[in-house]
Amino acid sequence: MDIKTICIHGSDWKDPTGCISVPIFQSATFGHPELGSSTGYDYTRVQNPTRECTEKVVAALEHGCDCTSYSSGMAAISMVMELFKPGDTILSSDDLYGGSIRLFRFINEKNGLKFKYVNTSHPEEVEKAFDETVKAVYIETPTNPMMQVTDIQKIAELAHAHGCLLIADNTFMSPYFCNPIDFGADIVLHSGTKYLAGHNDTLAGFVVCKDKEIAEKVRFLYKTVGGCLAPWDAWLVTRGIKTLALRMEAAQKNAGAIAEFLENHPKVTKVLYPGLKNFENKDVHFKQSRGAGAMLSFYTDSHETALKVLKSVKLIRFAESLGGVESLITYPATQTHCDLTEEERQSRGITECLLRLSVGIEGAEDLIADLKQALD
Ligand SMILES: Cc1ncc(COP(=O)(O)O)c(C=O)c1O
Repeated sequence: MDIKTICIHGSDWKDPTGCISVPIFQSATFGHPELGSSTGYDYTRVQNPTRECTEKVVAALEHGCDCTSYSSGMAAISMVMELFKPGDTILSSDDLYGGSIRLFRFINEKNGLKFKYVNTSHPEEVEKAFDETVKAVYIETPTNPMMQVTDIQKIAELAHAHGCLLIADNTFMSPYFCNPIDFGADIVLHSGTKYLAGHNDTLAGFVVCKDKEIAEKVRFLYKTVGGCLAPWDAWLVTRGIKTLALRMEAAQKNAGAIAEFLENHPKVTKVLYPGLKNFENKDVHFKQSRGAGAMLSFYTDSHETALKVLKSVKLIRFAESLGGVESLITYPATQTHCDLTEEERQSRGITECLLRLSVGIEGAEDLIADLKQALD
């Protein structure tokens, strides 16, 4: 089925009333017909018809066998970390969303997990880092905010050769542009807050599993820990997904035009965007993705210019988050990556001149005019 059709019909919703949009089943619990029988729904922490539709469509979009949904992207990542036990090591990309690093460092490490950070764009570095305690490799591609690209297939082969899982956070590309499971990932994560929901109006997180065995373990954690997505938020995500294809195409088109504009602006020293000619690892990116996406990062010529842009943008809002219809600009050094040490930020290239832009679906000319007046 075409991905655009899956976005609309992937939840497979059918109802005797004929209603087209899945209703919001705002019920905590469900009555049993008699002892030992069930309508298929018992208690909303375990499953709810509205949420089930959202999970079905995300599983279908990501080519997984099952999907569980959570109250945020961070809740989804936390749940996946519960698959591991004290003493296990996770090999992780050294450039990741700062909140994921904060989770690993301040919560998962306290509970006995170990993390080794490597540049997963270099498979030889990953290869060298395995030892018998390593149980999984964790990647984002492209990474947030440095847009580093990892070869999913190569890293999946390495992970599997060492008996490890490959976990991929696919938030930046969305399932519209990339399906990591097709390249060997075992678990795909999403901050559904971003492109899937798409309207900067709700939080959500998803865990998609390739195989039944892991999916069953995740379902057990999901019903036990209870960070599930509420029916109303699930409904918002299902509605958002209906326009995923249109939004991704429109945002990507805008991002391409903006990247070119920024690349030619005298106060911009470097633009990181997979759609640009000289983007590092471009071949790898397009081997595994159907598009360049709509996220880009850029360096200004000075700290003052970066601050001026943040203060002067009018249409583009200076706000955290990404992937919505509204364009948002962020300052990773003090926002998404504030919990890294100064030394770590510098070594990763997260400097005082770096800005990250999530391009929305407004008119490209208006966005460019806004950036121009903010930079000039
Ligand atoms: C790549 C990535 N993964 C996960 C998250 C966390 O998602 P949430 O904010 O929905 O908890 C974010 C948030 O910005 C992100 O950018």
